[in-house]
Amino acid sequence: MNNIVTYLKIFIVGIVIYFPFPLYSAITGTCSNCHTMHNSQNASEMATYGASGQPWTDVGPYPGLVRGDCLGCHGMGTANKIETLGGSQFPQVYHLDASGDLAGGNFAYILGAKGSGASDAKGHNVIEIGNTDDLLTQPPGRRHDITGFQSLTCAGTSGCHGKRGTIQGSGIPSLKGSHHGNIDGKLDTADDVYNSYRFLNGVKGFENNGTFKWQNKDANNHNEYFGSASPASFDATGCQSCHGPHGNLEVKPLNKTMSGFCGTCHGYFHLLEGIGGDTSSPFTRHPNDIILPDSSEYAAYTSYSVEAPVARQVVPDTISGSVTPGSDVVICLSCHTAHASNYPDMLRWDYDTMVTEAGGTGGCFTCHTTKN
Ligand code: HEC
Ligand code: HEC
Ligand code: HEC
Ligand code: HEC
Ligand code: HEC
Ligand code: HEC
Repeated sequence: MNNIVTYLKIFIVGIVIYFPFPLYSAITGTCSNCHTMHNSQNASEMATYGASGQPWTDVGPYPGLVRGDCLGCHGMGTANKIETLGGSQFPQVYHLDASGDLAGGNFAYILGAKGSGASDAKGHNVIEIGNTDDLLTQPPGRRHDITGFQSLTCAGTSGCHGKRGTIQGSGIPSLKGSHHGNIDGKLDTADDVYNSYRFLNGVKGFENNGTFKWQNKDANNHNEYFGSASPASFDATGCQSCHGPHGNLEVKPLNKTMSGFCGTCHGYFHLLEGIGGDTSSPFTRHPNDIILPDSSEYAAYTSYSVEAPVARQVVPDTISGSVTPGSDVVICLSCHTAHASNYPDMLRWDYDTMVTEAGGTGGCFTCHTTKN
């Protein structure tokens, strides 16, 4: 009998190891850290996160009974890239932390609160930061003009996170349920916001769930992006390749890759379909979702660099410090950040310092290893 119990225990432990439960990473802390029921305590407003000392105005009440809008909780403007309040951790996308930024970048570069000075070209000018792009009112490389892109926003309609599109409503409602349902680590389903990479609806990936959560810290501590061996075709199913079936306006990438996601807004440079054109030379744009060749200069990129990350064709189970030419792929985020960087065109490095035959390292040379 004891033997049976022991076998049973081993069997159950075996199953749990073989089919690990998804790593839930739901937010922690008391409700009042984030919510206010009436937006009133002692007759004073409670929805005040981000309301003072910021370049933007942020006044409640907010949907979801939360105490701030996206930047209220994620752009507190302090010296911490992760802010802790009442036992809850708030990852920051607008901050002054000198030790570095979270993986998406830092909107503070656009306004010049951090970095070498203000510039609209350093990032996505989401309306929440109160500064529209003076030059770009539509996404360069768009499929069609879209009303409202002069007011690009964090989430929902004319936004990136949550359910996108005109029928969804913008901001917090477009994320409904995702904060409390948030899953960490391997995100291989991506059929809803909560189980998509960073609440980017329909994008797969692996979220760094180690000590350096939300960060691309170094070769062994970073997010893992999901890519494909050939770029998404946005013409394959016409309007549906971004809008989904039945004329539904829940815009998302059909192939669930990070580059496909960027391509829903930037997939048509010079009205040429697709984010990367071809998978073989001659190219007419820098290729994306293309395999790093296992030959010539590319074969030398074998140790993962957070300065020019590659994506994996299969969402991995763990973070890896290696790059495998012949398998790993180039993506938009190999060169760009998602929110904002300290450099023009939202690049990960200063393009002006990429001088051929001058002994430089990093940046373009991470892959083009013999051009320096
Ligand atoms: C650290 C921040 C935080 C804490 C703590 C928190 N919430 Fe939330 N909650 C949010 C945010 C942000 C939203 C809105 C966006 C969303 O739905 O993802 C939300 C949405 C909700 C929703 C609507 C969506 C859903 O998931 O059902 C309910 C209900 C809710 N919270 C209840 C609670 C209760 C009850 C507590 C305390 C036991 C609590 N929350 C604690 C941040 C928090
Ligand atoms: C009331 C505070 C609050 C508000 C408002 C809020 N968030 Fe969050 N958000 C949080 C906290 C806290 C976390 C950290 C969750 C965790 O610990 O995993 C988080 C996590 C996230 C993440 C990372 C999820 C992951 O994959 O780990 C994203 C993306 C995000 N929020 C986007 C948004 C957007 C976009 C908005 C506005 C529409 C928003 N949040 C509004 C508190 C908030
Ligand atoms: C919801 C649509 C949308 C998505 C998705 C999107 N962008 Fe953009 N992007 C825009 C708009 C609108 C602009 C122009 C306004 C601005 O730059 O603030 C822009 C501008 C840019 C710029 C130029 C910045 C400048 O000011 O010169 C770069 C680079 C860029 N995006 C890269 C990306 C990358 C990389 C991704 C994917 C991680 C992405 N975009 C996803 C809408 C989008
Ligand atoms: C490459 C991706 C892509 C393709 C293909 C595409 N769209 Fe869009 N469309 C978008 C994006 C992105 C939005 C903005 C969604 C939002 O508001 O967040 C949009 C918005 C719209 C809107 C809302 C109106 C507006 O101005 O905001 C309509 C209507 C629309 N698209 C129709 C179409 C039709 C019809 C087709 C096929 C002829 C099509 N789209 C093909 C990306 C695409
Ligand atoms: C190999 C590096 C690299 C990759 C990969 C890359 N870009 Fe760029 N991107 C650049 C550089 C450099 C510029 C500056 C303008 C130029 O050289 O054309 C730029 C400019 C841009 C701009 C601004 C264009 C304008 O008119 O101001 C957008 C938008 C953009 N990229 C989006 C994307 C998207 C979306 C992807 C993925 C589908 C992507 N990029 C992949 C390097 C890259
Ligand atoms: C993550 C790796 C990676 C980074 C970073 C990168 N490239 Fe590339 N690049 C590639 C790959 C892979 C190809 C396609 C090689 C092939 O299949 O022939 C390519 C192709 C090119 C080509 C066209 C070559 C041809 O055969 O037509 C040029 C030019 C180029 N890259 C320039 C740049 C510049 C400039 C930068 C920096 C802004 C850059 N690349 C950054 C990986 C990268």
